[in-house]
Amino acid sequence: MSKKQNIITIDGPSGVGKSTVSRRVAKKMGYTYLDTGAMYRAVGFYLDRIGVDIHNFDALSLSLAGLRLELLPAVTEISDVGVIINGEDVSDIIRNPEAAMVASRVSAIPVIREKLTEMQRFLGSRGGVVAEGRDIGTVVFPGARHKFFLDADPRERARRRVIQMRERGVEVDEEEILAITLERDKNDRERDIAPLRQAENAVKIDSTNITLEEVVIRILQKVSEGEAGQPCLSP
Ligand code: DC
Repeated sequence: MSKKQNIITIDGPSGVGKSTVSRRVAKKMGYTYLDTGAMYRAVGFYLDRIGVDIHNFDALSLSLAGLRLELLPAVTEISDVGVIINGEDVSDIIRNPEAAMVASRVSAIPVIREKLTEMQRFLGSRGGVVAEGRDIGTVVFPGARHKFFLDADPRERARRRVIQMRERGVEVDEEEILAITLERDKNDRERDIAPLRQAENAVKIDSTNITLEEVVIRILQKVSEGEAGQPCLSP
């Protein structure tokens, strides 16, 4: 049996609670939390701001070469990770629905995926990581020891997103958020490269009717039982 990486992957569609769940699992396990969506959001924001044509390969490659992306750990259990682009803190500005849509669009571009996948593998190379995103169990860390796929009804996901935005002081319309959620799902599931899908050996958890705390408990249970991804005999 090949040696499994000491990594927990949590994939799933937008608004399903991956960030909250991943942060809590990481804290309980003493692992580092890797928010790969924040990386796509940051790159999307940067490219949008400098106004590069993302379909112009040369211009895009040049822009990506000039990008320095740093991730800082979340300060509290509920705060987001810090994201710095070329020295500028963009942690808050990348969290709005527009930035999410831009991220979804740029995430279909191969050269962007290659760059971020390479960075993610580097960040996870020492193990002890809970990584969340869309392609983490399938593409980024296919050899991860524990893999999970979270899902929930789109309306419930939109409802949670609205609550989350309200907690940040941003008032949004639930129907609008639902429409954006469905559009992002479609983009992320139907793109040619690294689409959102459940890894074959991932455990699926539907959180429509359970709390995120229950999701965390199930994940920790599966991890301690050695399930979700093949159990590994070597340390
Ligand atoms: O998880 P999030 O909502 O912050 O992600 C924003 C977008 O980034 C998402 O719509 C698709 C893209 N993404 C991706 O393609 N692959 C990942 N591993 C993480 C995010």
